[in-house]
Amino acid sequence: MDIESAIASLDLPAKVRLLTGSALFALHDEPRIGLASLKMSDGPTGVRGAELRGGTIACVLPNATLLAQHWDTDLAREVGEVLADEAAAQQVHVVLGPTINLHRTPLGGRLFEAYSEDPLLTGVLAAAYVRGLQDKGIAATPKHYVANESETERRTASMVLDEKTLRELYLLPFEIVVEDSSPWAVMAAYNNVNGVPATEHTELVEGVLKGEWGFDGLVMSDWFATKSTAASANGGLDLAMPGPGGPWEDKLVAAVEAGEVSEPVVDDHLRRLLLLASRTGAFGGERSWPTGLPAPDSELRREQLRRFAAGGMVVLKNSGALPLDASSRVALIGRHALDTVAQGGGSAGLRPPHVISIADGLTSQLGPNVSVVDGVEVRLRYAAPKILENVRATTYDAAGEVLASREMEIAELAAYGGWAQGAASIEVSGEVVLDEPATLLVGVRGFGDWTLQAGTEAHATRLDWADGIVEEALLKPPHWTTEVLLSPGDRVTARVREASALVGLIAQPVPRPPADVIGAAVRAAREADVAVVVVGLTDEQETEGFDKTTLALPGEQDALVAAVAAAAKRTVVVVNAATPVLMPWLAQVDAVLWAGLPGQEAGDAVAAALLGHVEPAGRLVTTFPRTDAEALPLVPVDGELKYDEGTAIGHRGASDPLFWFGHGLGYTTWEYDAASLSTVDGLVDAVSVRVTNTGDRPGREVVQVYLRPDGEPVRLIGWAVVDVPAGESAQVEVTCSARVQRVWFDGWQPVHGGEVLVARGLGDVRATLQAGRG
Ligand code: BGC
Repeated sequence: MDIESAIASLDLPAKVRLLTGSALFALHDEPRIGLASLKMSDGPTGVRGAELRGGTIACVLPNATLLAQHWDTDLAREVGEVLADEAAAQQVHVVLGPTINLHRTPLGGRLFEAYSEDPLLTGVLAAAYVRGLQDKGIAATPKHYVANESETERRTASMVLDEKTLRELYLLPFEIVVEDSSPWAVMAAYNNVNGVPATEHTELVEGVLKGEWGFDGLVMSDWFATKSTAASANGGLDLAMPGPGGPWEDKLVAAVEAGEVSEPVVDDHLRRLLLLASRTGAFGGERSWPTGLPAPDSELRREQLRRFAAGGMVVLKNSGALPLDASSRVALIGRHALDTVAQGGGSAGLRPPHVISIADGLTSQLGPNVSVVDGVEVRLRYAAPKILENVRATTYDAAGEVLASREMEIAELAAYGGWAQGAASIEVSGEVVLDEPATLLVGVRGFGDWTLQAGTEAHATRLDWADGIVEEALLKPPHWTTEVLLSPGDRVTARVREASALVGLIAQPVPRPPADVIGAAVRAAREADVAVVVVGLTDEQETEGFDKTTLALPGEQDALVAAVAAAAKRTVVVVNAATPVLMPWLAQVDAVLWAGLPGQEAGDAVAAALLGHVEPAGRLVTTFPRTDAEALPLVPVDGELKYDEGTAIGHRGASDPLFWFGHGLGYTTWEYDAASLSTVDGLVDAVSVRVTNTGDRPGREVVQVYLRPDGEPVRLIGWAVVDVPAGESAQVEVTCSARVQRVWFDGWQPVHGGEVLVARGLGDVRATLQAGRG
């Protein structure tokens, strides 16, 4: 049956039924027209599957900024291909990514999911990622359309911005991705744009996306983001997610019957849904899923994920301490060395086959030359209970009968949307791994009526959930802890009634005083040839749902670095974070490696980068401020967040940042000469330049071209990546985009004139040329 006959064969309620999800990550089937149930999955750094926590084991890729730091479209495409296979292995039709909102301010909590502050880099990389997915028959869903750059009050706040800012910055990645890679779906954001919910923004959805850009795919809401019936249906939203329930279903049928929504509007939504289903093989024939795909821990995937991570890392500073000499004695210090953060928090999070810690990665390369020393606490709320084994979760019905019981790798599960949903009570239990009796911090995370049995001690507590949407409650559940003396093999068991979101057991060593930890680190650093201190953020800062209040590293990590740097012969700092942090110790250390959130192969990738087995050839994708005060604020006032800075975000507005967008030293040095440009219709079409690798190692250069138009902020207009052996030169042609050589003034106007900068980040400009005049 073709799409038009399918639409014609269904009555109104049957059509409308298909326009709301059937579950958290699935759509209804309709056997009468040969429509199978479409399966969706987050997105964007791995294919999580249908469980919010503890579900299918799948590849955890490096986060979006680390991938973007390669500035490499071939790599972005390969990422899409890996994700397509990961989706196919789970019979998932639609991946909810890429996230292409911009880094408006580094205080944004969710930036780790989004590529960059720059719209051109974001759009071009996203288009390659989308092609990688869709060429293998899996739909991509660029999100969140539009102006969803921060999380505070994300479901209600209105982003207030003028059309120039919207067009030149925040719409541009969507424009590029739609025009260059034709995504089969787009997700509409939670927030309002200039007072109108993004899920019912006729002007932006019907007018710009579907009209001007000719988007023929499906627009779905973000989860629980649909705020109305008729207005959203008329505003271009095609699918309300998730379901069942929500503001469409019967209410939409009634709205059509009342004449508030016309039936052809419903038909158009269904047409787009069926087109998505036919593109992904859920309509018009049965899809055959490939078998024998590489497992998430296969050698192929491990090699790819190591390469994706290591090559994108950025050498921020290096006075010769990197690459590490493999024969040196290394003191490896820091909580992130032992408990390396592989991914950010929220809907992007998933369950990896393993996470190689930096301690394991470096030790497997250097053996006994490495001594590992724990650092200060980095989590302010809780730690993953690594000291539990034989963890088991059990669900009970109201009569106390066991419904199901499962072994678990983590002591945490989703009570909402997962296998435990609907149980009257849920129990999580584990056995402590200790060499001798010790006092541990034990407790629970999540809402409900709790009992906790720890060894012989029993406790009860109630944790309430004030209000809001259940999935939001997964992002920052409340917790309760107490200290208990436990012996090896004791069990800790938590049971909760009325669980609504997340059920988690906490068990961790009682934090040691920072002075003791720092003292031990300093002693280890003195005895080594080089101290490698690993610091960073965790999913407490880098998460969906919440923004940061400071760029400072959490806990006493700055004090740890400063103390080690004062004692060590040489100090290398590895930062395990996706988004800018303050570095008050920068002048005291010898080198800084920006490692991002490196995914499941984290430790092996960091070791490869530190030792120079892979050149960390990344270039920053966002500007690093020197202080919190330089970061644009993001807290809405009276429900409005004003983008008053206009187009001057990141490098477009910076004057003296700590590190410029585009900065990155790699492991060699470069000379530029013979730069020239060509123009077409007065716009810069291409820049040609000769680059010479003047170091003694092969290297990768990212040649960046910026335009500083008269009276407008500077902007990236093109780049090219080139691999050059030591001592050799390459002639590099950089194609420049016309899309960023225009300004919005009641319509697009070309920008002529100004300076063209050929640069290694705006702090290191190598040639300045004059742009053409129109
Ligand atoms: C996020 C989306 C995500 C969706 C489904 C929302 O909270 O904003 O990016 O795809 O949940 O998990």
